[in-house]
Formats: sequence, structure tokens, C-alpha cells
Amino acid sequence: MGDGNQVRVRGFRDCFAGEIRGLDLSRTLSPAILKTVREAWAEFPVLCFPDQPLDVDALESFTAQIGPFGNDPFIEPMQGHPNVLEVRRGPDEKGIVFGAAWHSDWSFQECPPSATLLQAKIVPPIGGDTLFADCRRAWKSLPDDLKRIALRCHAIHSAKFAYGTSGTLAKDQNPREMKILTSEKAHQTRLHPMVRTHPVTGLNALFVNPVYTTGVDGMSKENGRAFLDQIYEHIVQDEYLYRHNWREDMLLMWDNRCVIHNAEGGYEGHARLMYRTTVAGEKPVDPTVDEEPIQFQSGRNHGA
Ligand code: SIN
Repeated sequence: MGDGNQVRVRGFRDCFAGEIRGLDLSRTLSPAILKTVREAWAEFPVLCFPDQPLDVDALESFTAQIGPFGNDPFIEPMQGHPNVLEVRRGPDEKGIVFGAAWHSDWSFQECPPSATLLQAKIVPPIGGDTLFADCRRAWKSLPDDLKRIALRCHAIHSAKFAYGTSGTLAKDQNPREMKILTSEKAHQTRLHPMVRTHPVTGLNALFVNPVYTTGVDGMSKENGRAFLDQIYEHIVQDEYLYRHNWREDMLLMWDNRCVIHNAEGGYEGHARLMYRTTVAGEKPVDPTVDEEPIQFQSGRNHGA
């Protein structure tokens, strides 16, 4: 296995997730292979790299090949590795599972991360799946009346419900292995278009999520809530979902610009440990209304 001639990209059946095999991510990738990875990721915004037993340095190095590190607030990073978070839960923890609600990572930032990379280190024998929803397909199929409103609107994003001084994580006094740094800073708000155009694929996607989207600019609290609830109900329909079942040493890279995710839990009595990095993204841009899907072919092999 290497940065060589047997790189295989495969889409999971009728899905926005896929996998890429035949790579050794502990080595620096050639420009040609990196291009293959980027193309695969544009086609499959949830992209799995099975069997990648990377140490922390190698995970950082692969992340840096995708792009500059993002800024990860509110969680104490791994000691000596300021760009790596340990998503860690002990077998006896009783508190809220980290990431256990639909969200797009750090969507309250001015430039939210494009990619999140999560590598499985300890996988519980049951539960612990991560669910993903495809916000591009959800956008395409949104009823026209909702589309018209969403196209005109900007949503308000904030970390306050999760990381604010009286947010869910501040209220949860259960001991946990992760050090969460709740803060006044989480109360800041930011506006983003409700629909954003992807800078690489040109595809539009809904860009709202129940954890960090706190309202709709220009709508009353009640109307904004009601509108957002209709959108969320639409996004998380079964047909737009992918359930990721982890194996040790799997690395997953997802695109926060067009998918939302939810860590499921369900592994009481077992430990789970993942290493997480993010890649800096760009400021979400207002949508282009006409779009053509990009044409990549899945299930192909690539030479170096
Ligand atoms: C996250 O939201 O980044 C965590 C996802 C997971 O632990 O599965």
C-alpha cells in the first residue's frame, strides 16, 4: 500500500458517503494523489479512509495537506498538540454525549471549518455510530415555498446553547474525560446565508443546524423557530441520511459546508476515543440559484 498506483474510490450505495483505499496516509501524498483525494471528497462529502493506523503527528500532517488547521474553541486540546481534540468518553460517563445533536462544526464562526477529520482509536463494541445528513439533496428537494424564503434569509448562529455559561454543557455537571471550556464568548452571534454555495462543487446546500442556529434574521423568535423546525424535519429524513459504523483506525473526513452530523451514543459501559482535527474554511457565500451537479464517476481506480 502506498502513494501509488492502486488508489480505489468507491461510493457507498446511492449515498453521499464513500471510501478511498490503497493509500498510506502516514506518507506525504503526491500532488496527483492529493488531487484524487480532493475529487473523491467533492463527490463524497463524507469520505472514509479505512485501515489508517496514524499516530497523532501523521494525522496532523495529513490534515495540513488538505488545508490549514481550523480554530477549535471551547475544548481543551490534546497536550502538546493544539490542533488535535480527543473526543473521549469513559465507560462510566453519564453526561451528554459530545456531539450528540445535529450540527455542522463551529458554524458560528465567521469562517467555519471546511473539513473535520475524525480518527477512531477506541471503538465500542456496540453503538457509537455517527449519523450524517446530506444538506445538498435536502436543498434540492425542499418545497418551493420554503426555498423562496430560505434563499432570501440569513440565519443567526451562536455557540451559546452548547458552550454558553448557562448552556447544556455548563449545566451538565456529570464528570467527563473531555475538558469543555464554557465561556461568555459563546454568546457572540454571527449571520450566515441559510443556503450556501460550495466553493469547489458549485452546489448549493442548506446551512443551518439545530445546535448552533439560534434564529433567522428579521423573523420573530417564534416564526424563526417554526421555519427552522420545518427545514430540520426535511433535512433529517431517512433518504438523506448516512450512518457511519466505525472500525478502529478508520479516518473519516467530512465537509461541514454541505453535511450535518450527529454522534449517536448508545455504548454505556464502554470507552470511545477519537482524534479530531479541522481544516479552516471560507466565509459562507450567498447561493447561486442555477447549478449543475458535478460529474465524477464513482467506483474507479486511479493510477499515480
Ligand atoms: C463531533 O461532533 O465532532 C463528534 C462526532 C463523533 O464523535 O462521532
